[in-house]
Order: sequence, then structure tokens, then C-alpha cells
Amino acid sequence: MCGIVGYVGHRPALDVVLGGLRRMEYRGYDSAGVAVLDGAGALTVERKAGRLANLEGRLDEVGREHFGGTAGMGHTRWATHGAPIDRNSHPHRDASERVAVVHNGIIENFAALRAELEADGVEMASDTDTETAAHLVARAYTEGDTKGDFTASVAAVCRRLEGAFTLVVTHADHPDTIVAARRSSPLVVGVGEGEHFVASDVAAFIEHTREAVELGQDQLVVITREGYDVLDFHGDAAQAKPFTVDWDLSAAEKGGHEYFMLKEIEEQPEALANTLRGHFESGRIILDEQRISDQDLRDVDKVFVVACGSAYHSGLVAKYAIEHWTRLPVEVELASEFRYRDPVLDRDTLVVAVSQSGETADTLEAVRHAREQKARVLAVCNTNGAQIPRESDAVLYTHAGPEIGVASTKAFLAQIAANYLVGLALAQARGTKYPDEVAREYAELEAMPAAVQKVLSTVEQVRDLGRRIADSKAILFLGRHVGFPVALEGALKLKELAYMHAEGFAAGELKHGPIALIEDGLPVVVVMPSPKGRAVLHSKLVSNISEIQARGARTIVIAEEGDETVRPFADELIEVPAVPTLLQPLVSTVPLQVLAAEIARARGYDVDKPRNLAKSVTVE
Ligand code: F6R
Repeated sequence: MCGIVGYVGHRPALDVVLGGLRRMEYRGYDSAGVAVLDGAGALTVERKAGRLANLEGRLDEVGREHFGGTAGMGHTRWATHGAPIDRNSHPHRDASERVAVVHNGIIENFAALRAELEADGVEMASDTDTETAAHLVARAYTEGDTKGDFTASVAAVCRRLEGAFTLVVTHADHPDTIVAARRSSPLVVGVGEGEHFVASDVAAFIEHTREAVELGQDQLVVITREGYDVLDFHGDAAQAKPFTVDWDLSAAEKGGHEYFMLKEIEEQPEALANTLRGHFESGRIILDEQRISDQDLRDVDKVFVVACGSAYHSGLVAKYAIEHWTRLPVEVELASEFRYRDPVLDRDTLVVAVSQSGETADTLEAVRHAREQKARVLAVCNTNGAQIPRESDAVLYTHAGPEIGVASTKAFLAQIAANYLVGLALAQARGTKYPDEVAREYAELEAMPAAVQKVLSTVEQVRDLGRRIADSKAILFLGRHVGFPVALEGALKLKELAYMHAEGFAAGELKHGPIALIEDGLPVVVVMPSPKGRAVLHSKLVSNISEIQARGARTIVIAEEGDETVRPFADELIEVPAVPTLLQPLVSTVPLQVLAAEIARARGYDVDKPRNLAKSVTVE
């Protein structure tokens, strides 16, 4: 989820581009880079690993006067292909250094494109997928039908690319023009007086103009000082949607949201889609860096999931699916407990270490312990090249993008999806599911971004509820089956954001103690299973709700749309779309995230930076 900005106008491009990057840095902290075109045909590039401040320091060293010109582009990177080092930083250039490209997304067929270019004698200067686009544009510009036509060359390359991408391309022969294109990745145009912008997010140009144009799927835009043209990838004129931004500058830094967390909640459909993308090809599940062979996966006789906090809850969800699909025993363990109790591990044990940051000390130590015991370790991680994936045998990246709010939201949903991919890969290798069954499960996962989007369109009711119960002393959460870890996650979100006493329970445990906590008016959130999916669990939970309602609890019920049996027992009913049983956590967690954030807001707390917490916990 990188940040991109491009500019053609009358101001010094370097200042405009750096200003835009500052407001988009949240999209990636791995590196930053700029390219500026001067009117005399020079294309000057500088890039640096690490935060934007590193690039700014570098620009001061080399002298900003070398970056004169009123057209240019910039990039902040959240690494996907290639480690976060200088040479993998954007912009990337072709061998003649006349073409420069910045990119957000993943070019899925980059390995084939790279091989083709290398066979043609092109020497790659980076490990990125992006660099292939720079060489391809340069080649299209110098030969064939597109020779000498910059826009047609970019369009021709876009037609060849698979996957998701926003590309912004400059050519030294065209110092007054920038060409940008998008497929399944954001790109907006900013329309000013004698100046035009392209960016991943309006935050990049809101300081200069509020008039914007949203590009559609597979569209390309050519910006100059005077205007902009929108085309499709075949070069035909296309329609795009103009709009006026009604945010102020400070809100725009968070994409119009009051807090990063609220923005990240809304990004969940995209996070899920990006995590799943590219993992099912030619009828098979494919993991990212699978340094564990199919034979090793076949030999696995036990699975451990080790993680902390929300990541641990994602493991609890996955246990239900992995056991069901593979018939392997799965133990889910808090990483901080794992290595201190001498777990029984050997080379046929698969340890799945789940971590958003990839830096959590407890999880890292659990990985080290597992490897010392000769177990095989697969990391599920959101941060490219972090320590946990580096020390593991294999890695599956969640592509949720940078998560800035301390409370995990989109990374949690992405972890569930990634854990499910691990389960399907095991089932495939062990033959406990037929290929068509694996394909069906994957197709159901692929439908989830749309289901989560649907939940997001109904959150106003949850916000209103949050404000009404914000001064409660405590809130309890109940669930069964996959709804149980959802209840734990709902309680964790509330504790960390609203500093409110909150507990999650398996609803069946209620009578064994927690029911003593129920008193008049106590809000109790109940996560219902589908009446169709697990009818027996559904009816047991209906009994549990009536038991607590009889004792005065205020029942807040999360249930499948159209579940009429539960309505009489719900003081507040929150409906979520019907989805397959094992996928229900992906929809039922969302209202709980919104509820916790809204209660925290109502209590006047900083939703992004809860007290005493840090985003990355690097001490045990
Ligand atoms: C809760 C939360 C934490 C993290 C935990 C693990 O909202 O964010 O509980 O889930 O600290 O962090 P990672 O996934 O980075 O290992």
C-alpha cells in the first residue's frame, strides 16, 4: 500500500511532491523517492530506504537546487517485492534512464516479464516487480507500433500487466507530461489552475486544490499543465468521475477519517482482497515463500499456532477450519507461554507464527524455540522482511497495508484469511480435500471482501449504540464455536481503546461461573452463529441469551440477516450478511471494532494511540 504523487504545473515540483509525500507517509515507511523533470530534458531521481526524513536529508546533502523543474513524482514504499533497501526504492528507471516509474500494488506476472526482459539482455537493478514496467515502457517507446508515442507505450504495457497496480510514469523526452494508470489500486487526479496532480489519495494535493477526478478500473490519465485526458488501456477516450473534496487538510491526512483506526476499519475489504490475491493459480493454493516442500506438508502430524493478542485470536479462529479441513490436531498457544512449558515438538510439527509487525518479541522467541526443537515454522506476517519471517522456514504475507492505529483491525481480518490459506494448503498437500473442494473454499473466501463491504455500509447503527452505552461500567461478550474467538477479540478491542472492563466468554461456560456477573442493565454482546450453518449451536445460544435476559442483561445480538428467531431476545439487533460458518468471524468482528472505537471516542480517548500500548511490542 504505497503512496504515490505526480505533478505538472507552475510551482517547483520537488516542493509539491515532498508536501504530498509527507501527508501520505502513513501508506508506507520503508523508503521514499522522487523524480523531477526539468524543461531541458533531464530526469533527476533520488531515493532512500527508511522514512521520508531520510530522503529529505539525502536531498539536502546532494543539493535541492539539482531538482529544478515543474514536473515530477514521488513515492513512499510499503515493501512487497524486495527488501526495503535503497536499490529497491522507487522510482525505478530503464537502462537508458529516460523512463522512470513509481508503482503501488503487485504485478503478479512480473516473474515471466522479468525473464523475458533478461532473455533480451536487460540487466535488472532491483528485486522489485516495478522495475519490469520501466523497462517495458522504454522498449515500447523505442520499437513497434507505439514507437515515439509515450501514452500509447504506457497503455500497451498496462495491457500486459496482471495483478493490481497504480503506475505513474515520466519520460525525459516529455518533460511537461505525466502518464498514470490504475487497476484495482487507487488513483485520483487533482485539477488545479494551470497545474494537475495524480495521487493515491487526495491528501497529497488537498493543499492546492479540492477539485478531483476519480479514475475507473483499467483507466489511464495523461496530465499536463493545461489539462488532463482520461483513456482506457486501448487508448480510447474514457469517462471518469469528477468530485469536490470536502475535507480540511488535517482530516485528509487520515483519508478524511478522524482516526487512522476508522480508516483502517474501512480498508478491510481491500486488505482481504490483497491478502488472497495471487494465492490460487492453476487450481492450486500457492503460499508466498514456501520453503517447506509439499512432502513436508504431507508429513505434518500436528499444528501449533503461536501469537499474541489479536493475532492469537486469529489463530483461535483458524483452529476450527484447519482441524475440519485437514483432520490434523491444532493447538493455539499464546507465544509468551509456549516456550516456557516445554511443548512437544518435532520435525513433523508445523508451527504457524502469526504477527502483524513481525517483530513481537514473544512470538519471535517462540519461533526460535520451535526451530531449536526441529519443528518447521511458517510465519504469517504483514511486514515484509521483518525478523519473524526472516527467522522462519517459510512465510505467507498478509497484504493488509500499513496499520497505524495501535489496535489491530484490518491486519486481524487479513490474518484470518491467511491462516485459512495455510489450512487449505495443508488440506491440498495431504489430500484431505479434493481439488474442487479447495477451489470452492477459496472462491468463498474471495467473496468475503464484498460481504465485509456490506457490513461497513451499516455501521451507523453500531456507532449510535456505542454512544448510548459509553458510560457502562463493563461489557461482556459471548460466542460459541468460531464466535468464541470473535467474542475475545471484541472484548480486547474494548479494553484497549475504551479502558473499560470487558470479558469474552464461551457461551457454554456461562453457567459455570460468569453468569454471576450479570446484573440489571449490563450490556452483553452475543455473537450468534448462522441458524442454517450450525442449527444446534444456534438454538443453544438462543437459550443462553434468554437466560441472561431473564437476569436483567441488556442484550446486543450480532446475527445473520433474516434470523427472526433471535429477534425477541435482542434488545439491540445488529445484522450481518449470511456467509459460510467458518467465515463468519470476518463479518461479525467488524461491528465489534466499530463499537469499541465509538465508545472510546465518546469517552474522549485517543482511538489511535491508547494509553500504555505500542504498535510493535519488541520486549518480552
Ligand atoms: C490488539 C493488538 C495486539 C497485537 C499483538 C500482536 O489490537 O493490536 O494485541 O495483536 O500485540 O502484535 P503482532 O501481530 O504485531 O505480533
